[in-house]
Amino acid sequence: MPSYSLRVNGKVHQVEVAEDTPVLWVLRDHIKLLGTKYGCGIGQCGACTIHLDGLAMRSCSVPVSAVGSQELTTIEGLSEKGNHPVQQAWIEHDVPQCGYCQAGQIMNAAALLADTPNPSDQEIAARMNGNICRCGTYTRIQKAIKTAAEKMS
Ligand code: FES
Ligand code: FES
Repeated sequence: MPSYSLRVNGKVHQVEVAEDTPVLWVLRDHIKLLGTKYGCGIGQCGACTIHLDGLAMRSCSVPVSAVGSQELTTIEGLSEKGNHPVQQAWIEHDVPQCGYCQAGQIMNAAALLADTPNPSDQEIAARMNGNICRCGTYTRIQKAIKTAAEKMS
């Protein structure tokens, strides 16, 4: 079994897994970071979204062998005290319902605002389109992203 040195949330973790193991399984089963959720497993729902060197990626669809020295950031590492502007805006707008999709939503929103600081409604809709919420929190997500953008400007 190959061994991988993964940089996750600022720490290095050594894991021994098959090279085609999805990053999601490594995070949840080997590193025991359970904030990133399994939804569909085929890149369709966004529940497993994390950052790879700051860019949003679906961790169910990337094999561990593709990560190399890039930094992985999960919801646990987005901010030290859960106080990233996106997380604060999520609280302000009381976004989550069941909560299952929300780590992925927040990670995707944070990546969006990192490269598009003042997104239009259309840009938000386009970037968040693939993150499915079975509870239908989309309107609150849209408002929270606007608020987070204001906080960050
Ligand atoms: S679990 Fe990865 S996109 Fe659905
Ligand atoms: S809050 Fe329940 S799936 Fe999104």
